[in-house]
Amino acid sequence: MTASLTIPALTEDLKGVLIDADTIRKRVADLARQIDKDYEGKGELLIVGVLKGAFIFTADLTRALTKEHVVDFIALSSYTGDKTTGNVRLLMDTRQNMENKHVLIVEDILDSGYTLDYLIRTFKTRKPLSVKTAVLLDKPDRHIVPVEIDYCGFTIPDVWVVGYGLDYNEKHRTLPYIAEMYPQK
Ligand code: IMP
Ligand code: MG
Repeated sequence: MTASLTIPALTEDLKGVLIDADTIRKRVADLARQIDKDYEGKGELLIVGVLKGAFIFTADLTRALTKEHVVDFIALSSYTGDKTTGNVRLLMDTRQNMENKHVLIVEDILDSGYTLDYLIRTFKTRKPLSVKTAVLLDKPDRHIVPVEIDYCGFTIPDVWVVGYGLDYNEKHRTLPYIAEMYPQK
């Protein structure tokens, strides 16, 4: 993993660091070890990262795996600012065939559950061997649709977070840590 030489300071719209870069790195390594163990000796593994939010988590998690795998991405949208529309739009589909492969969806955060529920249902129609989920952050207070998480990084309270791939209207996406934002008007 690439280490940043300087840790960017908090800007005035950020309340504080919720999860620092080192804690994220260690947890991602733990998840990778667990995934390696669970898929050992099984068939082909296809990792599907959900753009854009999960691009950094996907990059770090896949580089920590020893199990052979193929990486693909899918792009969806359901949010404007910090409001979910509950209406998931498919912006870009995967390119890899899922038939007879174990599919692991890598998502940044489980909020209402609409996105992951949509993805799991869609992928199950494509004849994979299995569909599992790895989610960096879980906000249990916000769940609307029940979704099973197989690998969870951290459970967080109902606050808007940015960094490590997550954004607010495209801001703060590449911070190396996860920060909590002040509520936006
Ligand atoms: P869900 O469909 O409501 O579960 O929402 C999942 C998507 O909403 C995630 O993939 C994120 O892109 C976005 N999201 C939800 N909460 C946050 C947050 O606190 N910060 C940034 N993005 C979020
Ligand atoms: Mg997302």
